[in-house]
Amino acid sequence: MMAALQMPLTAQADPVDDALVIDDLEMVTRTKAPEGHPFDEVRSGWLYREAETRELEADSFQNPGMLYVEQGADIWNRIEGPEGKSCASCHNDAAVTMKGVGANYPKWDADAKRPINVELQIDKCRVENMGLEAYKFDHAEQKALTTYIKNQALGEPVKLDLSQGELQSWWDRGKELYYTRTGQLNFACASCHEANSGQYIRADHLSQGQANGFPTYRLKQADMVSLHNRFRGCIRDTRAEFPKAFSDELMALEVYVTWRGTGLSVETPSVRQ
Ligand code: HEC
Ligand code: HEC
Repeated sequence: MMAALQMPLTAQADPVDDALVIDDLEMVTRTKAPEGHPFDEVRSGWLYREAETRELEADSFQNPGMLYVEQGADIWNRIEGPEGKSCASCHNDAAVTMKGVGANYPKWDADAKRPINVELQIDKCRVENMGLEAYKFDHAEQKALTTYIKNQALGEPVKLDLSQGELQSWWDRGKELYYTRTGQLNFACASCHEANSGQYIRADHLSQGQANGFPTYRLKQADMVSLHNRFRGCIRDTRAEFPKAFSDELMALEVYVTWRGTGLSVETPSVRQ
């Protein structure tokens, strides 16, 4: 059997000791981990980024992700489809009706009998309430609307209700996947984001791999990146087959990974390298 390749780790460094304040709101970027968590402290990926990247996120006027929030607001108010409705026709002012909502996803979808995330909830409303089609994965409007809705929860602590439906069994499955080594490199999510968090892997300071800032603006891609896109990127880096967006595997991972960030503020749109 071929031995697993060595991880190209270069150095270990502590995350910064700095406060993230966005629009006068102080974000929780470190907090005590919930019971059963492998870490004592849950930390935002923001603490692991370079100073310039951190500053971009802290300043809403400079944060390129805010353009997508604005686009999302336009789509929210745009009448579309045979029913002649917009999102706002039913949900009115998102600042009121969607406040905090994004901090509690994924939720249990009793109709579909599986977890639902914000992207899928948007599709559900488009199909069932507007007579439209679901967006293709990572459609620019899907990312903008998701960013807009999550941004209404800026600063709110991430909290899942695992007692909904069968959410707990999806958490179990997500946990199993998180620790399963795959691919030519034989890495699990935990190999990087748990065992080696704090290490540098080439030029990247490895964080805990938290989901609280998604969708995130990535400077490298000069675009918004959805959570499932990020998952797929991380899986691809281990040279393993990567599952489809919204597949059972990635939904289970989303439930589990989101839970690992319990108590962190929603930072959408976060800025990452
Ligand atoms: C005809 C009315 C109607 C329209 C139009 C509509 N929705 Fe909904 N939406 C609902 C109803 C009813 C619910 C609650 C039941 C459910 O989950 O389906 C809901 C639930 C939601 C939720 C979940 C809220 C929560 O507390 O978890 C989100 C997010 C949402 N809609 C987003 C949208 C977006 C984005 C659009 C536009 C693309 C939209 N909706 C269009 C009726 C509508
Ligand atoms: C070979 C190492 C490696 C593996 C394995 C890996 N990742 Fe990552 N991941 C990275 C790097 C590097 C980054 C970017 C720097 C950072 O935030 O840690 C990243 C970033 C992330 C982020 C974004 C964090 C943020 O704050 O924006 C998430 C979420 C994530 N990974 C989840 C996962 C999941 C889930 C798995 C398993 C399916 C996984 N990763 C496997 C290396 C890895």
